[in-house]
Amino acid sequence: MGRVLAVVSQKGGVGKTTTSVNLAAAFARRGLRTLIIDVDPQGAVRYGVGLRKGHPTFGFADYLNGARSLREIILPTALPWLRCILAGSVSDSADHSFYQQLIADTNVLHDLLRIAQERCDVVVVDTPPGLGAIVHRVLEASHHVIVPLQCEPLALQTTPQILRGIQDVVDTNKDLTLDGILLTMFEPGNASSERVAAYVRSHLPGNMVFDVRIPRTDATLEAFAAGQPVVLRTPADPAAQAYVNLATLLAPRLT
Ligand SMILES: Nc1ncnc2c1ncn2[C@@H]1O[C@H](COP(=O)(O)OP(=O)(O)OP(=O)(O)O)[C@@H](O)[C@H]1O
Ligand SMILES: [Mg+2]
Repeated sequence: MGRVLAVVSQKGGVGKTTTSVNLAAAFARRGLRTLIIDVDPQGAVRYGVGLRKGHPTFGFADYLNGARSLREIILPTALPWLRCILAGSVSDSADHSFYQQLIADTNVLHDLLRIAQERCDVVVVDTPPGLGAIVHRVLEASHHVIVPLQCEPLALQTTPQILRGIQDVVDTNKDLTLDGILLTMFEPGNASSERVAAYVRSHLPGNMVFDVRIPRTDATLEAFAAGQPVVLRTPADPAAQAYVNLATLLAPRLT
């Protein structure tokens, strides 16, 4: 049986999708059979995961509403061990309420995650920002959760709140472990960034914050724009190396 790892944060734009696609690619490079599932109706995984040209755009939303079969929505990527389920047609529409309601009111997501873990070693789930119904449903069926935290001044105010929210959901599932808070977009030498990193480290238990920090790099941005994880496009980049190091740290916990 594989493990389900959710990437979750209360705040938006903190690097969830970047973390999901790069960790998934790094796991697949290690030979783990990996599936990444995008349940965020914004559907950003599609732009960064390294899909083959001309790939279909349907995905989880189309399975959820019964329009597509599971076999149809599992897409190959540039990596043999990495497969992907996109968010699907919901990301082309502005109204996500029906999608949210279906996730909240049915067991389709729960059952999909169960099937996926039977067939894969690792299932990485990219989630929408916040701790709403979709994220609750994901965490009910997950074993691991990682919380990216962007190294920016607002993090000083929001960290305690983020932690409370996560602890509440972790408490609802006895099989779920908070693997750690991941500092993202860290800028070495930048006073504000260094202050946030130091604050988070000093205010949270030591084992709750990963030693690995993800630096902010141009290569990460460029890789996303080019449709690929930075770990594949620019392996020597410091952010790529940090993601590979994180995957190395997590892999033994997942297998
Ligand atoms: N290490 C990094 N270096 C440079 N840019 C980064 C890095 N990590 C993320 N970004 C950029 O920051 C932006 C937000 O990242 P991302 O989309 O991964 O966040 P998110 O938490 O998934 O956002 P949302 O809450 O909207 O889903 C993107 O433009 C992404 O390319
Ligand atoms: Mg995202």
